[in-house]
Amino acid sequence: MCGIVGFTGRREAQPILLEGLARLEYRGYDSSGLATVNGKLYVRKTVGRIAALRKLLGDHPLKGNSGICHTRWATHGTVTEANAHPHLGGKGEVAVVHNGVIENYDELKRQLEAQGFQFKSQTDTEVIAHLVASLLSDDLVDAVRKALPHLKGTYALAVVSPRFPGIVVGARLGSPLVVGLGDHENFLASDASALGGFAQRVVYLEDRQLCVLTPDKWEICAADRTSADVEVHTLEWDAQDADKAEFEHFMLKEIYEQPEVIRRALAGRLNVAEATAHFDGLNLDARQLGQIDRIIMTACGTSYHAALIGEHLFEQFARIPVEVEYASEFRYRNPPIEKNTIIVGITQSGETADTLAALRESKRKGQRTIGICNVVGSSIAREVDGGVFLHAGPEIGVASTKAFIAQVTVLTLLAVHLGRMRHLSHQAGGRILDELQAMPDILRETLKCHDQVAAIADKYHHATNMLYLGRQYLFPMALEGALTLKEISYNHAEGYPAAEMKHGPIALVDENTPSVFLVPHSSVYDKVMSNLEEIKARGGPIIAIACAADTHVEAKVDDIIHVPSVPEYLQPLVTAIPLQLLAYHIALLRGCDIDKPRNLAKSVTVE
Ligand code: AGP
Repeated sequence: MCGIVGFTGRREAQPILLEGLARLEYRGYDSSGLATVNGKLYVRKTVGRIAALRKLLGDHPLKGNSGICHTRWATHGTVTEANAHPHLGGKGEVAVVHNGVIENYDELKRQLEAQGFQFKSQTDTEVIAHLVASLLSDDLVDAVRKALPHLKGTYALAVVSPRFPGIVVGARLGSPLVVGLGDHENFLASDASALGGFAQRVVYLEDRQLCVLTPDKWEICAADRTSADVEVHTLEWDAQDADKAEFEHFMLKEIYEQPEVIRRALAGRLNVAEATAHFDGLNLDARQLGQIDRIIMTACGTSYHAALIGEHLFEQFARIPVEVEYASEFRYRNPPIEKNTIIVGITQSGETADTLAALRESKRKGQRTIGICNVVGSSIAREVDGGVFLHAGPEIGVASTKAFIAQVTVLTLLAVHLGRMRHLSHQAGGRILDELQAMPDILRETLKCHDQVAAIADKYHHATNMLYLGRQYLFPMALEGALTLKEISYNHAEGYPAAEMKHGPIALVDENTPSVFLVPHSSVYDKVMSNLEEIKARGGPIIAIACAADTHVEAKVDDIIHVPSVPEYLQPLVTAIPLQLLAYHIALLRGCDIDKPRNLAKSVTVE
C-alpha cells in the first residue's frame, strides 16, 4: 500500500528519497511523487512505476537537502498525476504525503474551500495540506499539531515547508511510521525496509505521536508536544534481502528459500528432551497456557488460510476448540468470548489494518492477544500481549509464499507446545519434532517438481477459470492455491472443499475448466477419489497433486505432480510448493508483473 520516505541532512535529498521509495515498491502502488525544499518547494509526480519517476527526475532533477516522497495506492480519486502525492497546501507553503484514509475529508474540504483554499486533486490528503497551511504561523510543528485533532480516520504523515527549511515533521495514527537515525541526517519512512543501509538505528512512532527531524536533531513528542518515552532499536538489514540473486523474480527466490525458512522457524524452539516446543515471547506461563480452553484465530488473505490449517493442528494435537475469523468481520462482531479464550492474530506484515483493529478490540475487552508475525517492530508485534516471530526474512513478492510456510510451521510448533500440556504423549510429541526437522530436506526434494509444474502451466495457462479442490488439511491449501493464482495471473480461480462441488460449483465444470485436485494421504483418500471421478465424468481436465507413494491416481487424471509422502498434517507444506510454482508459471506465461501485481498491496494498511 502507500509508502512514505522523508529525509533531512547535508546530502542531496533526491537520490536518497528515490532509493528509499524503490525499496517500498514491493508494497504495491499506482503513482509516485517527490518534493524537495530548496528555497521553495519543488515537486515531481508521475503515474505508473517508480522507473517513470526516476526518469522524470533524471530529466528534471530536484536540488535540496530535505524532502519527502510517496508511492500512492489509490483510495480517493483515480490514478492521475494530480492525485499523486505530495500535495501542496495554501500557495505552496507546505507539502504533505499521507498514508491512510481521512474519513471526514468532504466536510473539511467544504470548510477550507469556504476559506478560499483551492483544491487541485480528488484526494482526501489534499485537505491535510491546506489545513496545515491554514494553521501555519511561526511554527510548522504547531501547525501540524493543531491540524491533527480535525482529522477523522487514519494517517501517517510527513510534512515539509520552505518557510522551515531542513525540518521534516511526521505524525501517526493507525498507519505505521518509523524514524531512522543517521549521522548528521535523519529519515522518516512508513516501513523500516526503506531505511536499510541509511540508518543503523530506528524509533517506531506510536499512535498520536509526532516527530520533528532536522539534520542534527530528532524529537518525538506526544500530541500536546510533551516529549515521549522512546525506545531506540538497531535496524537489522541484510543487503541480500533486497536482491533477487539469480532469480527472475522475488517470488521465485522466496519459493526457493522455503526449506531454509522452515529451519529458521524451528531454530531454538525445539525441546527434544521433553518432546515439546518452547517460545520466548508468548508471555504466558505454564499455568496460563494450561488454562486456555478456546482459541480464536483472526487474519486476512493468505494468513487466514494459515489459520485454517492451524485450526486442524490445534484440534488434532492439543484438543483445543478453535475458531477462525476474517479479521475484517471479527473486528465488528461482538461474539460472547469466555475468559480463558486467547485471540491469535496471524500476519506477515504486522500492519494489516483489519487484523490490528481486531486484536485491539479484543484487548480492549480484556482478552489476551498473541501475534504470529514476520516483521519485528511492526504495529501488531508491538501491541499484542505476546507473540512468535516467523523469522522468514523480508518477503518482497506481493504473493505470500515463504511467510505462509513459516506461519504453518510456527502453528505446528504451538500446537505441539499446547498439546504436550494436555493429551499429547511424549512419544507423539517426539515423533512430530523429528518429522518437522526433516521438512527442510523434504521441501528441497519437493522443489524438484519445478520443471514438471512449468510444463503443466504451459498446457493450461490459457484457461481463464480454474478450480482448486481439497479436503481437511488440504482444503485451506485449495483456497490458498486459488488465491495465489488470482493474485498474480489475474485468472479466475476458486478453492472449494472437494465434496462441496456437487452442491453447486460442479455446474462450472467443462473441458475448458481444469481442476487442481489436492489428493491427501489420509482417511479421506477414497472420498476425494470419488469427488475426482465426479469431475472426470463431466469432462473436466484434472491436475492432481499427490504423494509419491500414490500409484493409483495417475491413471485417472490428465496430469500429475508427485510430492514427497509426509504425514497428513505436513501435507500443506509440500503441497504449497507446486501450487506456488503453478501460479508463478501461469502468470509468467501470461506476461503479468509477478512481484507487483495490479491493484494489490503487500501490506493493507487501510480498512
Ligand atoms: C499476499 O499474498 C496475501 N495473499 C494477502 O492476502 C495477505 O496475506 C493479506 O493481505 C494479509 O496480510 P498480512 O499477512 O500481512 O496480515
